[in-house]
Amino acid sequence: MTTLVTGVFLLLLSVAGVVSAARYITGDVLRLPSEASRFFRWRSDDDEVGGTRWAVLIAGSNGYWNYRHQADVCHAYQLLRNGGLKEENIIVFMYDDIAFNEENPRPGVIINNPHGDDVYKGVPKDYTGEDVNVHNFFAALLGNKSAITGGSGKVVDSGPDDHIFIYYTDHGGPGVLGMPTFPYLYADDLIDVLKKKHASGTYKSMVFYLEACESGSIFEGLLPQGLNIYATTASNAEESSWGTYCPGEYPSPPPEYETCLGDLYSVAWMEDSDMHNLRTETLHQQYELVKKRTINGNSAYGSHVMQYGDVGLSKDSLFAYLGTNPANDNFTFVDENSLVPPTKAVNQRDADLVHFWYKVLSQGTRRLC
Ligand SMILES: *[C@@H]1O[C@H](CO)[C@@H](O)[C@H](O)[C@H]1NC(C)=O
Ligand SMILES: *[C@@H]1O[C@H](CO)[C@@H](O)[C@H](O)[C@H]1NC(C)=O
Repeated sequence: MTTLVTGVFLLLLSVAGVVSAARYITGDVLRLPSEASRFFRWRSDDDEVGGTRWAVLIAGSNGYWNYRHQADVCHAYQLLRNGGLKEENIIVFMYDDIAFNEENPRPGVIINNPHGDDVYKGVPKDYTGEDVNVHNFFAALLGNKSAITGGSGKVVDSGPDDHIFIYYTDHGGPGVLGMPTFPYLYADDLIDVLKKKHASGTYKSMVFYLEACESGSIFEGLLPQGLNIYATTASNAEESSWGTYCPGEYPSPPPEYETCLGDLYSVAWMEDSDMHNLRTETLHQQYELVKKRTINGNSAYGSHVMQYGDVGLSKDSLFAYLGTNPANDNFTFVDENSLVPPTKAVNQRDADLVHFWYKVLSQGTRRLC
């Protein structure tokens, strides 16, 4: 077995070396309206959306080579805090082996963009290490505190008027999502939990953003309408999703980083949300923008963002789920807005070939990328 593993390791290393074509797109100019949205002044507490905003953020991987997933989750946490969500309403699952990893060129710091600030600071350690597991994830989502093992014990203790946002980022395969622990997260189990949550009458509506290879397969034909859940995924049911800000692409991470800093779909929705007044942008508008950025000019290094469930919910403003940063009050979303697309993204499969094969070999289960 050791010989086999070593053989596969070396083989894949050589394959990974070959997969490094580059592609350059002339950068579009970042356009933002500078006009004040003077006529759109809302209060920014929870009252106006009726109920509390909750969020569950989960990075399903560990290991420095998967830097980008935990970077995505830390970034999402900062975004939600800037939007006005309270720490007590945001539940973070991340292995937490990146910031102080010996390979991290900036100890104690995690960035999600080549020019980005530290996104690690202040992120609560709700569920870290072995506590990042499917059992705790489901228990937290269902608000079942007694079922939690380890961690902070924080759960989605939501009521009927509340809005819930779930963001997951990691590797995946057909019908399965990775976890840093075993077992993995299977689509049918996840859908059962979502149905259970709905049956408990403890939310008004839920938005699920999912980044993984073949992520469409988690919801396609499985997530029914009527649960008041709107989901978007980084890719359709049959394709890879992509890492971004990877060494060798433009924009590149700072030279001391030998890992991708983010994922294409994830960075697309977060960099959009970071800059706009989210009262003026709907889920649907963001879906369109993220779709456009993630398809990456129809290049080989892009994927098809999909939407599932109660698509009618996408007329809601992002504000109902993510809040909004008061500093962005003057940045109204306009449809023509376009973010600078990356010139190349790295296939999750290529970025993590070795890692993924280790997982597959050790578990003998479905393929992840
Ligand atoms: C919470 O979890 C415990 C332990 O797994 C289980 O016995 C109980 O039925 C769960 N409660 C609810 C409300 O689902
Ligand atoms: C928005 O624009 C108005 C009018 O120019 C200005 O007074 C206000 O300070 C701006 N708000 C922010 C958060 O930049």
